[in-house]
Amino acid sequence: MALKVMVTGGSGQVGSELVTALLNVEGIDDVYAPSSEELDLSSRKSVLEAVNLMKPEWIFHAAAWTAVDACEDDPTRAFAVNGLGTRFVVQAAGMVGARVCYLSTDYVFDGSSVRPYREWDPVGPRTVYGASKLAGEMEVRPEDLIVRTSWVMGEFGQNMAKTLIRLARSGGVHRFVDDQIGTPTVVSDLVETLVELYLGGHSGVFHVSNSGQTSWYAIARHIFEELGEDPGRISPISTAELTGFKAPRPRFSVLDNFALRGSGLKELPSWQDSVSALVAKLEAG
Ligand SMILES: NC(=O)c1ccc[n+]([C@@H]2O[C@H](COP(=O)([O-])OP(=O)(O)OC[C@H]3O[C@@H](n4cnc5c(N)ncnc54)[C@H](OP(=O)(O)O)[C@@H]3O)[C@@H](O)[C@H]2O)c1
Repeated sequence: MALKVMVTGGSGQVGSELVTALLNVEGIDDVYAPSSEELDLSSRKSVLEAVNLMKPEWIFHAAAWTAVDACEDDPTRAFAVNGLGTRFVVQAAGMVGARVCYLSTDYVFDGSSVRPYREWDPVGPRTVYGASKLAGEMEVRPEDLIVRTSWVMGEFGQNMAKTLIRLARSGGVHRFVDDQIGTPTVVSDLVETLVELYLGGHSGVFHVSNSGQTSWYAIARHIFEELGEDPGRISPISTAELTGFKAPRPRFSVLDNFALRGSGLKELPSWQDSVSALVAKLEAG
């Protein structure tokens, strides 16, 4: 049977690679990725119309207002897009009989844990962005999927890998925090897992990040080394010394991919291997 799949946020970092991956899945013959004008999450009418037009079997809901610091200044918009917008997507899905895969974030946790967060650990967002994404999680039905990921970097859009390549090539010394611990997630790995979860008909909450844990300081050094640049140009700085960020960053937001492992699904490669592969791809243009 020919399947129809919808991707919200198709112009974003995750959405753009997800659309390509889905087009290569046998059995899917139509991938519809409406723009934010065609499907505006802040308008119930717009969401219902866009979903009803295509009547997909699955909706990968990757669209969100992801500007973490800007969300602090405009909680109304953050909750309208990330919380209520997800309610509209789930309502629309119900009307056409579609299931939803909602992309969520490590920012739903408070960052005070001393061990990687499991899917069932208590949430406690400390930012407006995190709280608004958690609001979206609360709209999702038991038959849907929630995929929480962290520190995303891919080929499209803006991300830290691209920033670090630019800094490496433009000289100078740079400081990165060494007291925020988390895990990068390279989009190609994330997308592969999203497709696996979809094909396997999974539901519930899954944590999906690359393996291992690290700091931005260590990632910066790793990328400089990969590029043959001197990692000594990177020095550590503490979060307390940093200024200019409105939203507090979690001190620790490593996601234990417990549900993935326990469901017999493939875990993602080490962050070092995947970040190196991404840097090579970005360098090759
Ligand atoms: N980036 C990360 O580090 C990270 C970490 C954890 C979880 N996540 C989650 O992963 C998902 C994908 O993130 P990403 O990095 O791909 O985000 P992104 O690059 O910022 O892309 C966001 C997408 O959402 C769309 N969008 C924004 N406002 C919208 C609205 N009102 N109506 C409809 N569409 C709207 C944007 O469309 P326009 O381009 O037209 O504005 C864009 O396609 C998000 O749910 C995010 O919360 C991201």
